[in-house]
Amino acid sequence: MAKQTVSLGDKAVRRIGFGAMPLAGPGVFGPPKDPDAARAVLRRAVELGVDHIDTAQVYGPDVVNELIAEVLHPYPDGLLIATKVGGARDATGAWIRASRPEQLRVTVEQDLRTLRLDRIDLVYLRLGVGGSGPDPVPLADRLGTLTELRDEGKVGLIGLSAASADDLKAALGIAPIAAVQNAYGIGNRADEPVLELCRERGIAYVPYYPLGSAFTGGPQALANDPAIASVAAKHHATASQIALAWLLARYDRMLPIPGTSSLAHLEENLAAARIPLDEDDLNVLEKVRPLGPPVL
Ligand SMILES: NC(=O)c1ccc[n+]([C@@H]2O[C@H](COP(=O)([O-])OP(=O)(O)OC[C@H]3O[C@@H](n4cnc5c(N)ncnc54)[C@H](OP(=O)(O)O)[C@@H]3O)[C@@H](O)[C@H]2O)c1
Repeated sequence: MAKQTVSLGDKAVRRIGFGAMPLAGPGVFGPPKDPDAARAVLRRAVELGVDHIDTAQVYGPDVVNELIAEVLHPYPDGLLIATKVGGARDATGAWIRASRPEQLRVTVEQDLRTLRLDRIDLVYLRLGVGGSGPDPVPLADRLGTLTELRDEGKVGLIGLSAASADDLKAALGIAPIAAVQNAYGIGNRADEPVLELCRERGIAYVPYYPLGSAFTGGPQALANDPAIASVAAKHHATASQIALAWLLARYDRMLPIPGTSSLAHLEENLAAARIPLDEDDLNVLEKVRPLGPPVL
């Protein structure tokens, strides 16, 4: 099968990337239980052609960025690294808001330092960290800071994460938005309105929790679903692979970033890009049971 890529700024990335969040310790806090295993996953990901890695300063904090730099720097040509700003961790590991302009700037500077980069290819403004109420900092000020950082050459593209359709519409009136990263998957389709808006505007859509997230037992729930199981059996594939192949069929600028700390799961997930689902499969998959809302 031809190598399918999607262009994002000056890079073209393959359809399935890598979410690095599971490389941090339990609760996405502190070092991984097995740092050598985490290093091996990163090394193998790039060997297998991964050219889109999703990370964040809040993973650890700093731990995942530092592992990525330790293992992969100097980075291969064409590797796109994306980070997220808008939140931080307190000393106990709790997720707290960090969305004031000076905090966004500090987080980007910290990403640049820990990832050993001069420019982060794609930086998402993550909405809603550390509280569900409205953010006291106007969206225009937050996006304005990212625009300044882009103009300074420290940020390549600006993205938006955990955004509603209204958030995205408002953001598009302020700055060009290259990608949206929201929770979405075969068992959680609540974000369809945002996906539709991305299709209309040609914006890349990066679903997080593409396997339903380990926090809510997603992969196991997918494996227990009879509709997924029947399509998986037909293709001699796993339930996780069918969930990823389903995502790819939803939009030609859909870029899932399944996360894993396991070499076997990494290989399995990347191989999902080669599973061709037909109309019959997609009809069967309409019967998949909802997994329930994500936790983050
Ligand atoms: N923007 C945001 O607010 C936000 C929030 C959450 C996550 N993210 C990003 O999105 C990425 C994906 O989310 P996620 O990693 O939480 O969720 P996910 O990809 O839906 O699920 C990951 C979990 O599933 C397991 N898994 C992975 N591949 C598997 C397979 N083939 N079979 C069975 N289990 C498998 C992993 O465990 P093993 O380690 O055992 O494989 C991991 O615990 C993250 O890594 C992160 O980069 C962004």
